[in-house]
Formats: sequence, structure tokens, C-alpha cells
Amino acid sequence: MTLIAANWKMYKGPAEAAEFCLALREQDLDGVNVVVAPPYVSLAVAVQLLAGTEIGVAAQNVHWEPEGAYTGEISATMLRELGVYGAIVGHSERRQYFGETDELVASRARGALEAGLFVIGCVGETESERAQGKTEEVLRRQVSVFEPDDNFVVAYEPVWAIGTGKTATPELAQEAHAFLKSVLDVPVLYGGSVKPDNADSLLAQPDVDGALVGGASLDLESFTEICRAGARIRS
Ligand code: 13P
Repeated sequence: MTLIAANWKMYKGPAEAAEFCLALREQDLDGVNVVVAPPYVSLAVAVQLLAGTEIGVAAQNVHWEPEGAYTGEISATMLRELGVYGAIVGHSERRQYFGETDELVASRARGALEAGLFVIGCVGETESERAQGKTEEVLRRQVSVFEPDDNFVVAYEPVWAIGTGKTATPELAQEAHAFLKSVLDVPVLYGGSVKPDNADSLLAQPDVDGALVGGASLDLESFTEICRAGARIRS
């Protein structure tokens, strides 16, 4: 089944997250797997308000150790205690602004999987890497550090398409997804300016197994529309 995941980034504190989750649970989301990833402070309310639904709650990052002297970090064990279902790791914003390396991201993924979380591992080339013809080299390097696992999916998020309104064409996404799967055989979500009006054509690609949605996931109506596109595509 198609997976549609909402990455809220640093948006929606507990009050706004609660309002969204209460409304989301009233939507018809049959035929699609849905996950929301609020900021840490809004995880508890999201877990509480989505309890009893099929909608999963994920964190936007996770540390690999169960506990320790790691100021500012949150462990998978702690997330599990809260009832959190999964975690995103290696988002390009973590790599770009917080210096996260492939090895660090791999540790986060491994720790989270060992603790029983579902993990979305993000990869993607920058505009200049693509212009230099290095896309496959970069994707191979980034995805090779992960190991196949039933609870693991990759999100292909070309950095030049994130928050820019510049979406990869369906053909370009398909090509990158097929390449990623040739290196690591796991489902691959597409992320980067996914909107209700381009979701159908992206999700129609044979190797696009879902979407990781940023900006358009902050609005209930547009997120729900993207989820419905996900339900339509494989039904
Ligand atoms: P946008 O959908 O806002 O381009 O963000 C994509 C993203 O980074 C999801 O993780």
C-alpha cells in the first residue's frame, strides 16, 4: 500500500498539532498508509489524539543510543515509550544545517530499527551535484550505508526540489527510484514539492511507493488530497 508521510519540520506546536490531528482522524483515509511527523514537543499530543486510528506518528530525527550524555538528543527507546511509531533520519536539512554525515545517519537508522521503530531514511542530490552529472554517485553513496529491513523505507528528496516548488518530473523521479532500488531493495518515497496537483502523476510511477510531504502537509485539505491520491493509485 502507498505510504504518505507528513514532515511538519519546525511547524505546529502542541496546540496546532492537536487541532490538525483531531481533524485528520475524521478524514476517510482508507486504502493508504498515513504517517505524520510533528516536532518533538508535539509528538505526545499527536500519539494521544491519533490513538485507535491507523495513522502512525513519527519523529523527525532520533539518536542511536538508548540513553546517555547527548545534550539535545532524543532516543528511540524514549520515543517508543511515548507510543511513537517511527522516525525520519538523514533529512537534507539535517545534513545541510547540522552537519550530519552518511555514517551518523546510518547509526541513527540502525539504533532506531533495533529499538523497533519504523524508519524513513532520506537521500537526495543537490542542484550542483545533478548539474555535474553526479546524481547516481551521490545517491549510491548515501543509500549504501543503510541495510535492508522490513521496517525501513528510503525517501528520495532531491535537495533542489525541497520547498522550491520545483518538483522532479515523474520520469526523473522514476529513474532515481529505480536506481536507488537497484542498490538497496526497499520501498522508496518521493519528496520535494509534492502537492495535490502533482501527486497523482508522481505516485503513478511504478517505483514511487509513496510521498514524504513538507509544505503541503501543513494544510489539512491539501494533505488529505495527497493521501487520497495515494489511495487511488494502487486500488
Ligand atoms: P516540501 O514538500 O515543502 O518541498 O518539503 C519536502 C520535504 O523536505 C519533506 O521531508
